[in-house]
Amino acid sequence: MNDILPDETPYWQRLEDSVRNVLGRYGYAEIRLPLLEKTELFSRSIGEVTDIVEKEMYTFADRNGDSLTLRPEGTAGCVRAGIQNGLFRGQHRVWYQGPMFRHERPQKGRYRQFHQIGVEVYGIETPDVDAEIILMGKRVWQELGISGLTLELNSLGSGNARAAYREELVGYLSQNAERLDEDSHRRLASNPLRILDSKNPELEDIIAGAPSILDFLDEESSAHFEGLKTILDATGTSYVLNPRMVRGLDYYGKTVFEWTSNRLGAQGTVCAGGRYDGLVQQLGGRNVPAVGFAMGLERLVALMAEAIASPRHHLPHAYLVTVGERAATHGQRLAETLRDAVPTLRLLTNAGGGSFKSQMRRADKSGAQLALILGDDELSRQELGIKYLRRDRPQLALSVQNATEHLAALVNGPTTNKERTGSVQ
Ligand code: HAM
Repeated sequence: MNDILPDETPYWQRLEDSVRNVLGRYGYAEIRLPLLEKTELFSRSIGEVTDIVEKEMYTFADRNGDSLTLRPEGTAGCVRAGIQNGLFRGQHRVWYQGPMFRHERPQKGRYRQFHQIGVEVYGIETPDVDAEIILMGKRVWQELGISGLTLELNSLGSGNARAAYREELVGYLSQNAERLDEDSHRRLASNPLRILDSKNPELEDIIAGAPSILDFLDEESSAHFEGLKTILDATGTSYVLNPRMVRGLDYYGKTVFEWTSNRLGAQGTVCAGGRYDGLVQQLGGRNVPAVGFAMGLERLVALMAEAIASPRHHLPHAYLVTVGERAATHGQRLAETLRDAVPTLRLLTNAGGGSFKSQMRRADKSGAQLALILGDDELSRQELGIKYLRRDRPQLALSVQNATEHLAALVNGPTTNKERTGSVQ
């Protein structure tokens, strides 16, 4: 579980702002969900025989003896909320954001508390909406300057298609039983598709040679898959078919997809999702088709940090230096006046005293573009000194009114005093 430190948060804010903006442009509304849910919600939806439910959940009994779990993902809670609040009539497009918890072996790109932004669409069974959420992801990567992602695509077909495939797969894997590891032996009977998801390098050959689920698609899921591919082709969205992709959660059917990067080592999936038409009903709701995805923010931040220098929008524009006791008191008042007059101004005021020299050192260290200097002299003349810290310009002494205009022009871009000021964003 990681701390996200002040020099990293600008990436996070940029990422979250961009994603929120794109989701808004596609008409998605935010839903906020609790971090804790009843344990059985996750075992019933994600599946009893999955890594998440078998070994990765943070589960505890609360004071009533109810078994609760820190959410390992957002889809189950979103469905629970939809059922409980009667949201599942008509079409709904929602998104959520926040921490998820899985007790996995930590490594680069894999953490025990990590963050997702997820989207879920309810009430639309046609592949146009599968394409919509994929295109939305693609737009997010474009806006963030993240290139080189691969879209991997598969269809898990209908329940019947999966049952037929399962039989074929079990036959194939049983022939290779002596080469399977312990986990896979166990799953051969309970959840054989999970074996395709194994990360054990010794199983690579067996998995590569396994039959393809795409050969087992029934007519309806095949038409759905073709419909999706047609829209992706028409929108110039390239993809790679990966018939071994089964995803780590059991609720999927038909479309599944992952956006992957080869620049992140073993944990290269930055966004993943698919269709889960049966889940709402399975959890006690109506028969509502559903599709969604979630992106892993830590992994996207790692890619952003590679692609762009840290966004610096958190640096202050100005640092107010006050010399003398009178000035210190007036300084707070002046700072409030400036904040009223120029709402976009990021102004740090000196606190904790200090000589002029040490305050100027703090001003410099703060990253501010300029120091505003208020001493007894300035105070008696009703003026404010302005010293540029990163540009070679003579120090100015301006009336408070002129200083306010100067700062407004500096922060918002020149409007009236074009040649006197340059904007500092
Ligand atoms: P998931 O594949 O389990 O799907 O997770 C989605 C993404 O979360 C992954 O692709 C990855 O980027 C990130 N992620 C997962 N585990 C970790 C971890 N331990 N550390 C860092 N990042 C991680 C779901 O969670 C589904 N609920 C997605 C979905 C929504 N399907 C339909 N709707």
